Amino acid sequence: MNPLVKKMEYAVRGRLAIRADEIREELEHGNSNKYSFKRIVNCNIGNPQQLNQPPITFFRQVSSLCDNPDLLKKEHRSLVSQLYPKDAIERAEALLNAIGSVGAYSHSQGVPYIRNTVARFIEQRDGHPANPNDIYLTQGASAGVQTILSMITENSNTGIMIPIPQYPLYSASLALYGATPVTYYLDEATGWSLDVQQLTETVDAARREGVDVRALVIINPGNPTGQCLSSENMKDILTFCFEKRLVLLADEVYQTNIYEPEQRPFISFKKALMEYPDKHVRDNLELVSFHSISKGMVGECGRRGGYFECVNIDQGIMEQLYKVASVSLCPNVHGQVLVDLMCNPPCQGDPSYDSYTKEVQSIYDSLRRRSKKLEKCFNSMEGVSCQPAQGSMYLFPTISLSNKAVEQAKKQGICPDEYYCRAMLEATGVCVVAGSGFGQKANTWHFRSTFLPEEHLFDEFCSSLENFHRQFLEQHSEY
Ligand SMILES: Cc1ncc(COP(=O)(O)O)c(C=O)c1O
Repeated sequence: MNPLVKKMEYAVRGRLAIRADEIREELEHGNSNKYSFKRIVNCNIGNPQQLNQPPITFFRQVSSLCDNPDLLKKEHRSLVSQLYPKDAIERAEALLNAIGSVGAYSHSQGVPYIRNTVARFIEQRDGHPANPNDIYLTQGASAGVQTILSMITENSNTGIMIPIPQYPLYSASLALYGATPVTYYLDEATGWSLDVQQLTETVDAARREGVDVRALVIINPGNPTGQCLSSENMKDILTFCFEKRLVLLADEVYQTNIYEPEQRPFISFKKALMEYPDKHVRDNLELVSFHSISKGMVGECGRRGGYFECVNIDQGIMEQLYKVASVSLCPNVHGQVLVDLMCNPPCQGDPSYDSYTKEVQSIYDSLRRRSKKLEKCFNSMEGVSCQPAQGSMYLFPTISLSNKAVEQAKKQGICPDEYYCRAMLEATGVCVVAGSGFGQKANTWHFRSTFLPEEHLFDEFCSSLENFHRQFLEQHSEY
């Protein structure tokens, strides 16, 4: 086996999540007396529908018709028209017309019609043109990120700059491809901000040591940290990438999970680049930006859909990229259908417009309320401090742990924050991820929790965490 596989770690689905699955099994098979809770609450992963976020009705209507085109036949028309709105039927017909069958391989880059939809979406979002030929549809953003990282990595000397804390897709993939992670730190005290001066020092130091640093990864809005970059900060990042000759990889999967839109709206790196004052930078800086159907109010993680857009990438490299994509034949077509719907939802005047906007608004409002509630809950706990989530689906509080807790963790051979998270899981059924899984400054401890649990159960969820924390402090007090 490739020894690099052993080096790869992915804490979001790591030891704690495996333990959570074991407990779930026990609860389901009659061993419920052993625990003081009735269910496992998976806050370890941003998987909204696992925690009962409803799918958007229009999206499922269209995809179900694409799946069962029999329903579109003349003989079923009158019945189907009673069940499905006109715009869902028309959209399914248009998609099937372009796709053929969802059971057939599509173009390796993704169905051209759907790439056109994505290009129009990007144009409307940013106010700048997008070319469907520069867009690749992917199986979630993950597959796109992995394709690009694998293409950039030449050997173990290739350096890719990643944030700390980071989403472990990056550290795990770099470990697998054998590249060198060149880490830069986000600053917790200033709301997990990104200091460009530090980026410069980091890349210069790595290059002095002979590392061939080729790309910078930015996750905006951040995971696990929830920060959202300002336009000035983004401009400085672009200047930095241009001066240091780095490809910018912009992970923008949380672009609609924005909770302080007035102070910190989402701005795409594509837009920031297209509005950069120097034309030479606009025409030459290499950018790849990633988006997904898994997040936002769509939350269709299981359908595995996403896309990336390449900007200013050399034609020769685009040809090689196509070859790499073609080896996997095509991204799954159900996911591509959802990408089309995410990028082109019902418009004003369409029969489904009102219900669509109502559903999206209701999910958004609830997520925002839950983010504030959980932030307040964490900040009310002794020894815990939590920055607000400007975006994404997570909070990443810092916890101070007593020497006793640190000693206990050492005895068990695990990190102190993992020890805390394991105790939380055993006491409450809530599964979170320890900060050590994302990277953090030495001798600081964190954990990441989603704020996705159902709103009607949220008070109960918060009070179980508060009770657990109190007991944990008592049990691990030094005196
Ligand atoms: C920052 C970030 N990027 C990418 C992904 C991958 O998402 P998907 O592959 O489901 O599109 C995630 C998933 O949680 C994420 O948080």
